[in-house]
Amino acid sequence: MSEMFDQIKKRRTFAIISHPDAGKTTLTEKFLLYGGVINQAGSVKGKATAKHAVSDWMDIEKERGISVTSSVLQFEFGGCCINILDTPGHQDFSEDTYRTLMAADSAVMVIDAGKGVEAQTRKLFKVCAMRHIPVFTFINKMDREARDSFDLLDEIEKELGIPTCPVNWPIGSGKQFRGVYERESGQIELFEDTMKGTRVGTVKRIPLDDPEVSDYVEEDALELLREEIELLDGASAEFDQELVDAGELSPVFFGSALMNFGVETFLNHFLKMTTSPLPRTSDQGVIDPMEEEEFSAFVFKIQANMNKAHRDRVAFMRICSGEFDAGMDAWHVQGGKKVRLSQPQQMMANGRKMIERAYGGDIIGIFDPGIFSIGDTITSSGNKYAYEGIPTFAPEHFARVRQVDTMKRKQFIKGINQIAQEGAIQIFQEYNTGMEEIIVGVVGVLQFDVLIYRLRNEYNVEILLDKLPYEHIRWVENKDIDIRELRGTSDMKKVKDLKGRPLLLFINSWSIGMTLDRNEGLVLSEFGRE
Ligand code: G4P
Repeated sequence: MSEMFDQIKKRRTFAIISHPDAGKTTLTEKFLLYGGVINQAGSVKGKATAKHAVSDWMDIEKERGISVTSSVLQFEFGGCCINILDTPGHQDFSEDTYRTLMAADSAVMVIDAGKGVEAQTRKLFKVCAMRHIPVFTFINKMDREARDSFDLLDEIEKELGIPTCPVNWPIGSGKQFRGVYERESGQIELFEDTMKGTRVGTVKRIPLDDPEVSDYVEEDALELLREEIELLDGASAEFDQELVDAGELSPVFFGSALMNFGVETFLNHFLKMTTSPLPRTSDQGVIDPMEEEEFSAFVFKIQANMNKAHRDRVAFMRICSGEFDAGMDAWHVQGGKKVRLSQPQQMMANGRKMIERAYGGDIIGIFDPGIFSIGDTITSSGNKYAYEGIPTFAPEHFARVRQVDTMKRKQFIKGINQIAQEGAIQIFQEYNTGMEEIIVGVVGVLQFDVLIYRLRNEYNVEILLDKLPYEHIRWVENKDIDIRELRGTSDMKKVKDLKGRPLLLFINSWSIGMTLDRNEGLVLSEFGRE
């Protein structure tokens, strides 16, 4: 038994969040490099390999027109077993990206030093903040002209509302980048140009007060650094592990993923500061992986039709406690049935593989004959508890859906409801209308294509989409309000979702405030909670 708890304890399951192009792929690749999973062999090649490994699974889906997968990369480093959850960005940003964060115990936030906090980072951060998980900041691309470091930290604090605590501090940026000063040790880690990471850098450290330091760093840069350190010591928050654990303080690191600079240092600190698998809330209280011996997991993502011929699905689950053995029987709480967990697979850095065993903290994909829904609980201890459900995240694009051939009404309704139940899209209905008027909401526009493709291929139904101008959606949290009585704005639409929860759609963000002003006591939320 203690072997099992030891295994769980060494797990570190985290997601990397960032805006496209901030360097998430490059940083992930460098993690794999230090984890010994891929070889140095020049970063350009290394990057291609890593990218390939990461996106292999996605390519399969793309061929079928179904994108959006969060893969998981597992490797060992520094005595830890690391699970990196890939959060799809770019064009395949979707609700799954948010759901993936529900399976992580912490997040690494990559910020482009030249750009600061960007739109997608903001959205993903909100989900981390909702869960109060630790967030670590890596300010990347210091080898390029960067914005003032104090400004960057200010922006994180103001825009994201989280105080920061720099673990190290950059000395210059771009051509003048000389390295980082490590606050705790008082040492400078010297930057070395690794020719875009094609050469392995040697890490040279030198105490700031060593006279030799001026051989490496210009006098005026040293002077500025000393001033900045003084400022930092006086103004910035002190490191406090408890605040970090509560997601109320973000340790900050500076570096350059491309140049392999600051990545290993980051990894070493991060693994000490981040958490092993966290307890999770169930309807019977908190379940602690360090106490619960039985296997338990929840489904956070369903991948439909990996093999079209069989119409099979893969349910991705996060193991919360205990040990998983291939082919084991378990209890599906929501279905009220015993199920066999078969064909378990795990994404490794170098491909997908069948697995025999996994532990609390790990992510596995299980063959799903169509019985699981997002948020479902599976346990080996029977019907004792169910984990808290996964919220519905606010879509940002909306369209009215019409079928081309009205004779196929039944298939259309069945198809669109099933696809919505899997969580690939959200569907809404206006009050007082039937299913003939369906509004579809998605987080990423690619999901519209997925919908068209899947209805055509799986249900033989052609549809037309009329894009709607709504951009903001809010769930009405008040239980005692008749939504029809609400006084809104002219751009507002009242709808209900698949679960019958009332929602408001808005074109303009300022209308949300106006509606709140006009209806005393109204509580609106960006998340649709169970
Ligand atoms: P993403 O996954 O967050 O979208 O970003 P990705 O790692 O793909 O990086 C985006 C671009 O930024 C890439 O350049 C990458 O090489 C570059 N980059 C990442 N980290 C650093 C860094 O620390 N310093 C500098 N200077 N550049 C960095 P690209 O030109 O789009 O791709 P490639 O042609 O280099 O592959």
